[in-house]
Amino acid sequence: MRHHPSDDDSRHDLPGLDRLHGEHQEVLPDLLDLDAEVLAEALDAVRVDISRLVDSPVRSILDVGAGTGTGTFGLLRHFPEAHALALDSSEEMLAHLSGRAEHLGLGHRVSTLRVDLDGAVPELDPVDLAWASASLHHLADPGHTLNQLVTAIRPGGLFAVVELAGFPRFLPDDSPGGAAEARAHELLTADRAVDLPTMGSDWGTRLTGAGLIVEMDRPVIVDLAPPSAPVVGSYAAASLIRVHAAVADRLDGPDRAALQALLDGGPSDVRRRSDLRVIIERRLWVARRPAASTPGRD
Ligand SMILES: C[S@@+](CC[C@H](N)C(=O)[O-])C[C@H]1O[C@@H](n2cnc3c(N)ncnc32)[C@H](O)[C@@H]1O
Repeated sequence: MRHHPSDDDSRHDLPGLDRLHGEHQEVLPDLLDLDAEVLAEALDAVRVDISRLVDSPVRSILDVGAGTGTGTFGLLRHFPEAHALALDSSEEMLAHLSGRAEHLGLGHRVSTLRVDLDGAVPELDPVDLAWASASLHHLADPGHTLNQLVTAIRPGGLFAVVELAGFPRFLPDDSPGGAAEARAHELLTADRAVDLPTMGSDWGTRLTGAGLIVEMDRPVIVDLAPPSAPVVGSYAAASLIRVHAAVADRLDGPDRAALQALLDGGPSDVRRRSDLRVIIERRLWVARRPAASTPGRD
């Protein structure tokens, strides 16, 4: 179920539930690519904000937890003189990113490095701009990692962080599957408080604690009202496959059946519907490493 923004968004050949079992990890690259497509306009505005603050020209970019590279590619297009280093702990993500970079004609401007940022961050050439989108909340000890990452930004350089407070919903409560989706999200929210406790927290305070000066802190909101475009259906399906994998065994029978009906290729399948409503809420922080700072790596 590979999806690229330029691909045809066909609603045919929908995978049935038998194919969806065990696919929730495999679907993550698709979900990240679709996420960037749905957020495209908002991310364009984020890059404009960064370019207003950063010293030109930007020649070097570090993408922290790069995933499939949508952030890397957006920044390389925006800063045409830049080269990017994409860091991620996942070999699969970096392979996807490298293949996509070649496909986009950006291969010569991207390097990848597999690194677990929960361990020691390797010494890196300091960059003009570091970027972390939806990755910092995965870190076990963000303060410890941020203290190390600061030395990978040149004095005067920027660190732009986009983070989320939760996962988007797609169905009005009173529409088919809406109540089941709501109850699935209640379980997810409780899980997140334990598994990803820094999601939705104040990253500005952490950036300041790492010796950076926050120069921008603003919400990034995408509100897509019905009728929903096919890409929203694909995004909803990729998202709900992961929701289903995480909570289906804790839902009661009717809720589990209703959630599965959103993904089974039948009439309630989100890829066949145009009544989806998606509100995505993120936050942008742009912070500068002070020109004279000499932060210590701990
Ligand atoms: C939700 S994805 C976001 C990817 C990308 N930044 C985006 O906006 O699409 C989080 C990424 O962080 C990576 N990641 C999670 N924990 C990590 C760690 N300890 N070290 C390095 N990368 C990590 C994951 O492999 C994944 O690619």
